[in-house]
Amino acid sequence: MASPTEHGIILASLMGTETLITWSRSMPRQSSLTDRFGRTVDYVRISVTDRCDLRCVYCMAEDVKFVPRPQLLTLEEMARIGRAFVDLGVRKIRVTGGEPLTRRNVVHLFRELGQLEGLRDLTITTNGTQLHRYARELREAGVTRVNISIDSLHAERFRAITRNGELHRTLRGIDAALETGFRKVKLNAVILKNRNHDEVAELVAFAVARQMDISFIEEMPLGVIDEHDRAEAYYSSDRILADLRRHHELIPTTESTGGPSRYYRIPGLKTRVGFISPHSHNFCDQCNRVRLTAEGRLLLCLGQEHSTDLRAVVRAEPTDDAALREIIVESMKLKPKGHDFDLYTRPIIFRHMNTTGG
Ligand code: 5AD
Ligand code: SF4
Repeated sequence: MASPTEHGIILASLMGTETLITWSRSMPRQSSLTDRFGRTVDYVRISVTDRCDLRCVYCMAEDVKFVPRPQLLTLEEMARIGRAFVDLGVRKIRVTGGEPLTRRNVVHLFRELGQLEGLRDLTITTNGTQLHRYARELREAGVTRVNISIDSLHAERFRAITRNGELHRTLRGIDAALETGFRKVKLNAVILKNRNHDEVAELVAFAVARQMDISFIEEMPLGVIDEHDRAEAYYSSDRILADLRRHHELIPTTESTGGPSRYYRIPGLKTRVGFISPHSHNFCDQCNRVRLTAEGRLLLCLGQEHSTDLRAVVRAEPTDDAALREIIVESMKLKPKGHDFDLYTRPIIFRHMNTTGG
C-alpha cells in the first residue's frame, strides 16, 4: 500500500494512463467532498500567483525565486478548476497569492468565478497595496468579502516587516475597500515578538474605529528563511489575549466564519477579535478546506505535502471536466489528519506561504 504522499504522486503521474482511478463517466457526481476523517470540504483557496510586491519577513526570503511564468496555470484553467469544485459542492472560494492583485488580468478570474451558481462566497486575501484601483471592479465581479493583511500601523515598522512596503498604500486600500460596500472587510495581522507584539491594542483600536473584525495570526513554519528565527519571534495567541484584556473585556464566542479563527467580542462594540493559533490551539479537526497553488498543485493540507497535480489533468483533458471532478473527489482521500508544526526544528515544509496561498 502506498503512503498517502506516494499515492498522490502515483495518482498524478498515472494521469491519462491506467488504473488507480477508474475514469468512469457513470461515477456518481457527489454533492459534497468528504475525507477519510469525515470532514466535509466546502472551501477552496486558490493562489493565483506566488509573486508579491512586498517581502514580509515571515513569508518569503528576500532573494526569493519565483515560479517561471509558463509553469503557472492560466486564469482560464483556474476558473475551470474553480467551477469543478463548485459543481462538487464547494461553497466558498478565496483567491490568495502571493499578492493576487499583482497577477495580470486577475479580475477576469473573479468575473468567471463570480458567475458560478452555487458559490456563496467569493473572497480575496490581499496586502491592500493596489486595492484602491481594484476594489470597485472586484465588487462588481462578485467578491463578497475582503481580508487585508496589516501587521503594523507605524510606517518604519511596516517597512521593516514587509522589507519594502509603504504603509500609506495599505491604509488607502483599506479605506477603498470600506467605501466600496463589500459584505465584509476584515484585517489580519501576524504578530511577532519584538517586532509588533506591543501593537495589538493599537491594531484593535484601529479596527474598532472602522467597525471591522481583526484576526491575529501565529506565524507558521512554512519554508526556511535564514535571516528570520521563528522560535524567537513566536508570540502566542494567549499572550496577545492577555495583553488585550488590559484594555478591553473580551468574551469568547462560539461564532465562526467557517475558518480557524476563534472569535471574542468586546461588549458594546461591533468589532470581533479573532485568533488563528496553529501552535497553541490546533484547529485541524475542523478543517474544511484545500488549496490550489498557482502551478496547479492541489494541496490537501497547509502543513503537509500531500497533493495532486491538477495542471496535468486540465491539460490532458482540455474540454471535459469529468476527469477533473473525479480526481478531485479521489484526492480527498489524501487529506491528512493535520499539520505537525514545530517551531524548534527546521521546517518540514519547504514551500513558503506565498506559494501555498496564505
Ligand atoms: N505564518 C502565518 N501567516 C503567514 N502569512 C504569510 N506567511 C505566513 C506564515 N509563515 C499571512 C500573511 C497574510 C496571510 C495571507 O498569510 O501575513 O495575512
Ligand atoms: Fe506578500 Fe502576503 Fe507574503 Fe507579505 S505575507 S510577502 S504581503 S504574500
